[in-house]
Amino acid sequence: MAIRVKTTRRKVFEHEAPMRVVAVLGGELSEEGRWLDSSLDGALGRILKESRFKGEFGTSLYIPLPEVQVLLVGLGKRRGHRLGELRTLGVKIADAVVERGVREAAVENFLAERFGKRETSRVLAEGLLLGGYRFTKYQSGAKPPRARFVIAQGYGPATERAAAVVEGVWLARDLVNEPPNVLTPIELARRAEQVARETGLEARVLGPQEIQELGMGAYWSVAKGSDNEPRFIELVYRPEEEPAQKLALVGKGLTFDTGGYSLKPPESMKTMKGDMAGAAAVIGAMKAIAALKPPVEVRAYVAAAENMISGHAYRVDDVVRAMNGKTIEVLNTDAEGRLTLADALAYASQQEPDAIVEISTLTGSCVVALGREVAGLFAADEALGRAVQRAAEIAGEKVWPMPMEPAYKELLKSEIADIKNVGTREGGAIQAALFLAEFADAPFVHLDIAGPGFASSKEDHAYGPAGGTGFGVRTLVEWILRQG
Ligand code: BES
Ligand code: ZN
Ligand code: ZN
Repeated sequence: MAIRVKTTRRKVFEHEAPMRVVAVLGGELSEEGRWLDSSLDGALGRILKESRFKGEFGTSLYIPLPEVQVLLVGLGKRRGHRLGELRTLGVKIADAVVERGVREAAVENFLAERFGKRETSRVLAEGLLLGGYRFTKYQSGAKPPRARFVIAQGYGPATERAAAVVEGVWLARDLVNEPPNVLTPIELARRAEQVARETGLEARVLGPQEIQELGMGAYWSVAKGSDNEPRFIELVYRPEEEPAQKLALVGKGLTFDTGGYSLKPPESMKTMKGDMAGAAAVIGAMKAIAALKPPVEVRAYVAAAENMISGHAYRVDDVVRAMNGKTIEVLNTDAEGRLTLADALAYASQQEPDAIVEISTLTGSCVVALGREVAGLFAADEALGRAVQRAAEIAGEKVWPMPMEPAYKELLKSEIADIKNVGTREGGAIQAALFLAEFADAPFVHLDIAGPGFASSKEDHAYGPAGGTGFGVRTLVEWILRQG
């Protein structure tokens, strides 16, 4: 992605760029805006007065003057701002710049006097980079956007950190946006290995034989119906010094979910290429971690597979055995994610991590509960749950705690095996979380991103275009950096 952010010591009016972006605060030009206005002989003030532009938060007024293009952005009232609002503002500015094909924009470091220029530079840069993302690979004639943003009076190192995180988000979005005929489990593994090569991570990839030899019977049962072979992917980041902690990330990696013999209706099958959004999030997070180098060890695991129908696909009524020895009665082949995750969690547990955070597009039930923009957070360990929730707040990703109601464990009792893969419809997301917790032998948090992992329309999320959102990358990275 040729979208870049840098900083300058100069003011907006001093930096030569075809577009200048300044704020309207409490209905008036900001200080940067007034400097720019005097360099333009008061043109901005006059136009602002004549216009009906009130400067409400997130609105903008585009003013193409003969000498320069100006974008006035509304910051609403003078008081009461939250730092995170600068991220959504950055997204909107980037959208305006990219859609107009502008190559360079000098942007005011909004609210720097209120929050400090380091924090405002970081959050604004995140928004600009997130908002400039486009997936143009399969559009003949379309070029990927090119734009450079220069934050006036900004703090350089903060924008570099933002860029490292957002490159992880871009990667996650790219992986989700790839069509499922391209991004098979084999291709997902290849991309993960490529990231490892480029960043110095270790990568290990296992195929069908090793998966079966390790006793990953639950994962294998889902995978074996497809002609596209499964790949179990492990990425390892080791700090230079002795790590203070060992952390594990696990992501659901269904490169396509037809539902299997419990077949999905056609409408529900649309967007199921995004059923690997959890895997994309952990791979994206690992890319950022490799760049940011925290003092903790991080391992990411993805049991990549495709849920298909064939003569060798698994059935309803099958009983399978996971790596930790537990037997599972399969009563719905569309509840496949938890089967692949059962083995990924059991495998991750063998390393005795201090914490496992798992992220998956797991249940439609969670979307019913929380809608398309909010992820469900299920904590088997309270302190870990709070830490992940806090990280999400700081990262500007919406998550909400859901109960791991122990009474509902009854609903997963099987007549013939240790557990069954579905219970009742009511509280389905909670039952799914309880199921997963049976296979995680370490402090455990589950994030259900079935809603926010994929945006069917632009209105479905605040940080970029429709398609893969990269949800989770920012939360995971923030959580890991706060452990160090
Ligand atoms: N991948 C789906 C969950 C999903 C639904 C993700 C909508 C994104 C948007 C998952 O594998 C699934 O099909 N879950 C079933 C579980 C049920 C059979 C217990 C569901 O939610 O209906
Ligand atoms: Zn499914
Ligand atoms: Zn699924």
